[in-house]
Amino acid sequence: MVACHLVLIGMMGSGKSTVGQHCAAELSFEFCDTDDVIAASSAMTIPEIFAAYGEAEFRRREVNAVRDIARSNTAHVVACGGGVALDPANRTALRARGFVVWLDATPEALASRVGDGHGRPLLATGDPLATLQRLAELRSDAYERAAHLRIDTTHKDRNTVIEEVIQAFRHEEFHAS
Ligand code: S3P
Repeated sequence: MVACHLVLIGMMGSGKSTVGQHCAAELSFEFCDTDDVIAASSAMTIPEIFAAYGEAEFRRREVNAVRDIARSNTAHVVACGGGVALDPANRTALRARGFVVWLDATPEALASRVGDGHGRPLLATGDPLATLQRLAELRSDAYERAAHLRIDTTHKDRNTVIEEVIQAFRHEEFHAS
């Protein structure tokens, strides 16, 4: 049987990495973060890749990373960079092999979580909140298309979100088996 991954998508600051690591521990799955995979295979940080090669090249590397992760026969919890769901090939690969959860939150909540946006090249605009508002608006349709489930995390603490994700995933696995 092929592995079913648990895939977390959503905007920067939505909690994908933290929630994902806890879910992986709970499910005894491997955890991976697409940014970490890209950074490791490039031997560069994400800001370095953006600065040296630009966003388009980062997106190409992201597509390759997503394809490889999705194909893995080991069950993973995958925390996706905020832009992963924009690419139709990524959406197809992830939905084919995983249960995709969109961690959503208001731009205000996201902004309070990302602070000054350090380490996130797209937020180096001097006004992270305005950038998050603009990106959220542009991306919501793609997140909607990619996701099997949307969870609004705005007013939820981390443990509640983890519990909701795990419960939905187990329910899905049960019905798929
Ligand atoms: C991006 C989100 C980042 C990272 C890159 C681009 C985006 O990941 O992939 O800076 O386009 O939203 P996080 O969502 O983990 O911050």
